[in-house]
Parts: sequence; C-alpha cells; structure tokens
Amino acid sequence: MPTERYYVTTPIYYVNDRPHIGHLYTTTVADVLARYHRLKGDDVFFLTGVDEHAAKVSDAAAERGLTPQQWADQNAAVFQETFARLQMTNNDFVRTSQERHKAKVTAYVAALLKSGDVYAGEYEGWYDAGQEEYVTDSKAQEYGFKSPINGKPLVRKKEKNYFFKLESYREAVATAIRAGEFSVRPEARCNEILNRLAEAKDVPISRTGTGGWGIPVPGDPDQTIYVWIDALFNYLTYVDTPERRPYWEAGVTNLIAKDILWFHAAIWPALLLALKKCPGYEWVRLPRGVYAHSFWISEGQKMSKSLGNFVDLARIDHYISTFSLDALRYFLATQGPLGTTDADFAEAKFIEVYNTDLANTLGNCFSRISNMTNRYFAGRVPSPAAAVAESQPYGHGAEEALAAFTKALEGIDLAGGGAAAQGLIRSIDNYIEQTAPFKLAKDAANLPRVGTILYHCAEAMRIASLLLWPVIPHKCEEIWRRMGLDYAQQMQASAGRGQLAQWCQWGQLQPGATIAQGDPLFPRYQAPK
Ligand code: MSP
Repeated sequence: MPTERYYVTTPIYYVNDRPHIGHLYTTTVADVLARYHRLKGDDVFFLTGVDEHAAKVSDAAAERGLTPQQWADQNAAVFQETFARLQMTNNDFVRTSQERHKAKVTAYVAALLKSGDVYAGEYEGWYDAGQEEYVTDSKAQEYGFKSPINGKPLVRKKEKNYFFKLESYREAVATAIRAGEFSVRPEARCNEILNRLAEAKDVPISRTGTGGWGIPVPGDPDQTIYVWIDALFNYLTYVDTPERRPYWEAGVTNLIAKDILWFHAAIWPALLLALKKCPGYEWVRLPRGVYAHSFWISEGQKMSKSLGNFVDLARIDHYISTFSLDALRYFLATQGPLGTTDADFAEAKFIEVYNTDLANTLGNCFSRISNMTNRYFAGRVPSPAAAVAESQPYGHGAEEALAAFTKALEGIDLAGGGAAAQGLIRSIDNYIEQTAPFKLAKDAANLPRVGTILYHCAEAMRIASLLLWPVIPHKCEEIWRRMGLDYAQQMQASAGRGQLAQWCQWGQLQPGATIAQGDPLFPRYQAPK
C-alpha cells in the first residue's frame, strides 16, 4: 500500500502568557491524530508552536522591563518544555521570531505586493487591542465600544495600511468550501463563514507603531506585517523546504477553536489562492480543511483567573501526578469540546470517567486476564484449540471495533474512537461473565476450554490496546511490555510508522507467550476524606 502523508497543525499560541488547558487541549487532539495516522502507517508531520509578534507580547514585556524578544524567549521555552514533558510528538515547533519563518513571510508578502493582491491604502476603524483585531462599526456599537474579550475600551485608529484583496477571493473561497475542496468543520460552522464571506471587504494586513516588533513590510520598514498574517503563514513557512514540501502538497488539516475560525476559514485560504497566482508559487494549494472545536469551561463557568477556576499549568500537573498523563489525555480526548458545544472540565466528572473507563473497565479487565492466565496457565498464553460452546466464534467484535474506531478517527471524532475501544473491552468483560472461566477452572477437565476463553480475551485485549494507543500511549505500551508485544519497537524501526490494519487481524497472539502481572494500570481513585 503506498504511504499516505498526513499534515496536522494547531494554532500557534500567543506567548504573552503561560500555557493552559485550552492550549494543551488542541495540541493533545493533534497529537492523538498524529499518533493514529502514524500507527496506521502514514507519513505524518505534526506542527505546533507559538505566535510572538503580538502587541500584547510587547506590552507584557514592557510591564516587566524586558525586551519583547526576552519575554517571548522565556514563554516560548515554557510552551516548548511543557509540550515535551507531556510527550507531544510534534515534528517541529514554530517560533515566529525565527529567521526561517520571517524570511519566508517577507518573500510571500513581496510576491503579493508585486502581483497587486496587497496594495497600499488607509484604514480607519475601531481596534480591539486585546484581540489584535479591528471590529466593524456595527460590532463596535453592539459591544458598547468595549472589547468583548477583556472589557477594555476599543480604540479609534486611523493608519496608512497595506490591504489584502480579500474581496477578489471571497467567491473562490466560498466555492471551495461548498465543493468540499476546502472543508470547514464541524459542518454547523460553515454557514456562519459563508454568510460573512458574502460581505467580506479587503482587509488591512499591516500595522504602524509596533516599535519594530514584527516583520517589516518589504520596501516599507515603517510598517509591520499584521501579526495575524505573519502567524497564519506559519503553516506554510515551516514546510516550505524541499524535504517537507510533500506534506504541504498532501493538504494540511488546521485544528483550531471557534474563536479564530474567520482567520482560518476565510483569510487564510484567500491568501493561499492569491499566493498561488504568483510566479514560483504554483505549487501552493488550499488546506484540506480547518476543524474548529468549541471551548473548555471549568466547573460550569467560563475559565477565569479571578473565579479561581482556571486550569493552568499547576492544575494540569496536579491531574497528571494524581491520575497519570494518560488519564488526562483520555479525559481531554473523549470528553472534549470537539463538537459545537462547550465542554466542562470538572473534577467530579474527571474522577467518574477515570474510575469508570480506565480503572474499572480497561485496568480491571487487563488484571483479570493476566491474573487468570497466571493462576491457571503459569502466566503463558494458552492455546485456543478447544471448542467453547457458550460463545459465538470470537473475533467479530474486534473487527467491528476496528472499523468503528477508524471511521471515528478519520472524522476527528475522538469520543467515538474511545467508545469503539471501550466497547471492545466491555465485550471481553461480558464474555468473561458469560463463560465464567473462574468457575470452569475448578474442574481440571475444563482447562482446555478455559484456555480457549482466556486466549480470546487476551487477543481482544491486544487489539483494544492498539486502538487505545493514540490516546493513552504510555499505558498501552505497558500492556505491550507485559504481553511481550513489540509494536513500539517495530514502529521505532520504521520511522515511527505502524501497521494498524494488519496488527488488528485476529489470531496473532502466540500461545506460549508470557503475560506478566503487575501493578494496576489505573488504580481506582478514592477522593481523600
Ligand atoms: N495566536 C493566535 C493563533 C494564531 S494561529 C495562526 C491565538 N493564540 S491563543 O493563544 O489565543 O490561542 C487560541 C487557541 O487556544 C484556540 O484557538 C484554541 O486552540 C486554544 N484555546 C484557548 N482557550 C481555549 C479553551 N478555553 N478551550 C479550548 N481551547 C482553547 O489565538
């Protein structure tokens, strides 16, 4: 089978502050997708990083008596270390202050100036400094001339600006969205974009008075390229090299949240269509699509520092040390706001999901299998030779689970993927209840049947561990170690790529292989009194 390429990105996060659960969430979703595609055998490029040239970064730096670069360096390092510590498998880390990014952005904007899709003009309007964004007059009025984000007054600004001819591309973008050539998901978000596109005007793409923090407009050093244009281009600059260009050509999937959909679903594709017309850039194409999830709220309310419900790094570390990194990943992936409604990060819910899915279902089921194998078969996988009258020919459940899992992951439905794997484990539990090997084993004459039953259970568990690996890789690798399975080594030996479909075929577990006992994978959590 020819290798497919898969290119996935997260937004690049502002470095004015430290990472919080929202940043961790999008990066976790991207990591799960990247791992899934690698497990399937795809050649994956996964990009995340930070957005540095924002006024709020230079403002925050000034408050601390630092240069913007010093402040950006400090916070970029925190993001980078955090993602590394949480074992994100991104292939590179964007920093927009890096030369390799700035040089490409300069070249793109120079090409657009030359083609006429970027031109000089003047702009006057209401500016929201918190969002780094102009708002329309009617929106400004609706907001009471205050930022809907931070409540600070909007500022009336007039400046010489370079504009991008968004109006010339709005029809082409809308057509690409309608045709599915550039997909905007979840689908419910499409109309919002199509309506707004129909009215879109040319947009300013430069700023003055940034104190030199940013990328200068080529040929006009008094003007700085607007931070949003600089930032959007990261998805292209970091793969615009001979080795990486094939990832771009495969079509990027941009994961974001709903707050920045307009930039990604309208301005970004329009910029690319304009660049594609410039000499030397014919290879530029539209992204495969953009996926905009909703927001995490916390304990039923919008996250805010003053309410004390902010899920910051300290809280994140608390969850990891209490429940494990995989438990946090599992909660984020399966309970997260991938759809159009916000999701609640609530401790009680976290504990419930942890105990139900991870401790009682997965952990407990694996313990039962390894304990019985050790008790009745000295820790060796028994042979499945004997007939088991009580059960259907086993293995069907696994095939269906793989199909459901694959369909869900291809559609960025991580809850659906988790449910498919959980369903398979529950079916093992039901099978154990139904066939009662622990009762049968009391009579030595039944041991061949018990062996067949346990083989089926262990084999289904092997497959479930493959399906769960993208979400809870560390615990699944622990299962593999205990079962003597070398998928991690095989992937490592093939540039990180696996063979999900082949590995999930029924019957590959070898009778005689060891199943080691060990500590519970996910000890049941009891809240301290
Ligand atoms: N720098 C811009 C993005 C430029 S991309 C070319 C930016 N940065 S940000 O730091 O504000 O990050 C916004 C992103 O963080 C959201 O799109 C989302 O991915 C994530 N989240 C921030 N808060 C969130 C929640 N409360 N819930 C879920 N994700 C959220 O915008």
